[in-house]
Amino acid sequence: MKLIWMSDLHFQHSGEILGHDPQLRLDAAIAYINQHHSDASYCVISGDMAETATARNYADLADRLDQLAIPCLPMVGNHDDRDLLRAQFQVPDSCMDGFLQYSVDTPAGLILCLDTLKPGASEGEFCAERARWLTNTLDAAQDRAVLLFLHHSPMPLGLPMQDSARLEHGARFLEIIEGRANVRHLCVGHVHRSVTGTIRGVPFTALRSVLYQAPPPQPEWDWNSFTPSVEAPELAVVSFEQDSVTIQPLQFCPYDVGTSGRGQS
Ligand SMILES: [Fe+2]
Repeated sequence: MKLIWMSDLHFQHSGEILGHDPQLRLDAAIAYINQHHSDASYCVISGDMAETATARNYADLADRLDQLAIPCLPMVGNHDDRDLLRAQFQVPDSCMDGFLQYSVDTPAGLILCLDTLKPGASEGEFCAERARWLTNTLDAAQDRAVLLFLHHSPMPLGLPMQDSARLEHGARFLEIIEGRANVRHLCVGHVHRSVTGTIRGVPFTALRSVLYQAPPPQPEWDWNSFTPSVEAPELAVVSFEQDSVTIQPLQFCPYDVGTSGRGQS
């Protein structure tokens, strides 16, 4: 089956963020998906749906995403609010009480969208309750293929600034998935950069943001001097089958769309 994966929309109903226009960028992504990938089954959005968690931002975001030809699977990032988001978006019946964490049963296997939100913090958390749900869900899946999405990375990605705000209890998370051959891939957001690798034998991919990109680690930078890099946004086309996963990140619009040219080169 085919999925579209987008991350870190940082949507707000008006104005720019760090010289980038979240409405124009999202509209470009929606137009691209509708033109080229309307045959996908879902569009997974791996958190930071809104820049600031307000009812107005989520209402406008939901209106825009209604234009998508395919259903979306919303997730929370550190910028999001579970209750405000859930008030505007339908989530599968499998969703946990109190967390935006759920599974989607597909012919290829299970898509698990995890909730790593720690309210009020940049870093994420994976508490005992969410960990128990994941363990039980993976146990019940037996040997069915599982594709995991989560906002915060459970391990360092070689990005010093972002790695300081990764998932608390990352080791707990990794212990749950380690050794399960049916866990095919981890798809993470949050870092606004492309990174791929393996952790404890499980392959992972981090995806660029729909809105703005974080510079590479060198030359060194910090949040006080942070300026987005001049790199185009990407989404990914994911093929999820019982015995394979392919992830193709691709540029859905030029960098210039929705920018005022203030990024660093
Ligand atoms: Fe983000």
